[in-house]
Amino acid sequence: MEPRSYSLIITISKRIDSLVSVLGVLKNHDAVITHLESRPSRTPTDEDNEIDYFIQFSVLSDFSPDTFVAILQEFVVSASLVSGSEPSSCLSDSTPWFPRSIADVAQCCTTLFKYGSELTPDHPGYGDKEYQVRRKEIAVIAKRYQYGRPIPRMEYTAKEIETWGKIFSSQVKLYPTHACKEYNKHFPSLFSECGYREDNIPQLEDVSRYLKAKTDWQLWPVIGWISARDFLNSLAFRVFPTTQYIRHHSKPFYTPEPDICHELIGHAPLFCDSAFAQFSQEIGLASLAISDEWIDNLASLYWFTVEFGLVNEGGSPKAYGAGLLSGNEELQYCITDCPERRLLDIGEIIVTKYPETGLQPLYFVASSLEDMRDQMSAFSKSIPRPFCVIYDHINQKVEVQTAVV
Ligand SMILES: [Fe+2]
Repeated sequence: MEPRSYSLIITISKRIDSLVSVLGVLKNHDAVITHLESRPSRTPTDEDNEIDYFIQFSVLSDFSPDTFVAILQEFVVSASLVSGSEPSSCLSDSTPWFPRSIADVAQCCTTLFKYGSELTPDHPGYGDKEYQVRRKEIAVIAKRYQYGRPIPRMEYTAKEIETWGKIFSSQVKLYPTHACKEYNKHFPSLFSECGYREDNIPQLEDVSRYLKAKTDWQLWPVIGWISARDFLNSLAFRVFPTTQYIRHHSKPFYTPEPDICHELIGHAPLFCDSAFAQFSQEIGLASLAISDEWIDNLASLYWFTVEFGLVNEGGSPKAYGAGLLSGNEELQYCITDCPERRLLDIGEIIVTKYPETGLQPLYFVASSLEDMRDQMSAFSKSIPRPFCVIYDHINQKVEVQTAVV
């Protein structure tokens, strides 16, 4: 019999007997360990008493992965098992390129899809030479950014800070009644930890460091809109592509593109929540190497959840979508009786059309962020792909292998 190799990623308690139990299960299966790494667990729970292990081992071919994982479940918080070496036959010339490690995300974050420093006539800043020069200055930072380096700090002008302040002060008043409890739990910590204030635009580097410590997410500066595939692929590595410029001062409550107000007020606080953080990464992992049609489906899912999602709290809808949390008019409108609201159903969402501008006529309401995460985890298994990917969060890379458990 030829031995077969497997990769096992587990999260377990720091208690020595947990590791001893796992090693005992491997021993009982006559496994030969070929590689083992560990690090303090930062996902998916807020607990700080857990450790992640990445274990590669080989066993004889009569090994039953289902039985092995069933036995392991008694001793671990979570476990993922993939088999064999990379199935190179599954990767053909028609397989779309996708990042394999976090360093590859650089290729996702540098290809511009829309806007950037070149504005179109529908943009409020079109024709404002001073604004366009400023956008080019800020774009240089994103173009030169290198993974692993601190994100260069920006010195914002008084006019830019005034624009930020208008949005910040108006949104803060609505959050106690309109934002979900997870947002209201984490948002105040950004005041003390990252300099969130009406008279200060926070630095991406400070926010990125804070998120990294909380849930292992980080920000990556981009010069403008990147493609849906590049954007979603980045999420697989817990990387959030983030713009650094601010919208035009003439229309502080409108922007046709993401800007630093949308990113830091709308998106960043929810990445502190472990269930939301995991949900976002699940979308990213599901997007790797899939067809263009399925990228469109996941883009719809992202739109109706991360951008415009509502969650039920005691019978009342509350906002967790960044487009709502950073938009004054729509945050007030979304919980009124005017729009239609339906229960979250990922299968329905991916085929639902939506307007890209104006108020949304339809919102999907999750029963909880945890339920949304679990739905996504189950749904991702139904997306057609000739192989499975598993995230090695110790080395921040994806393994491409035959699906097992
Ligand atoms: Fe967004």
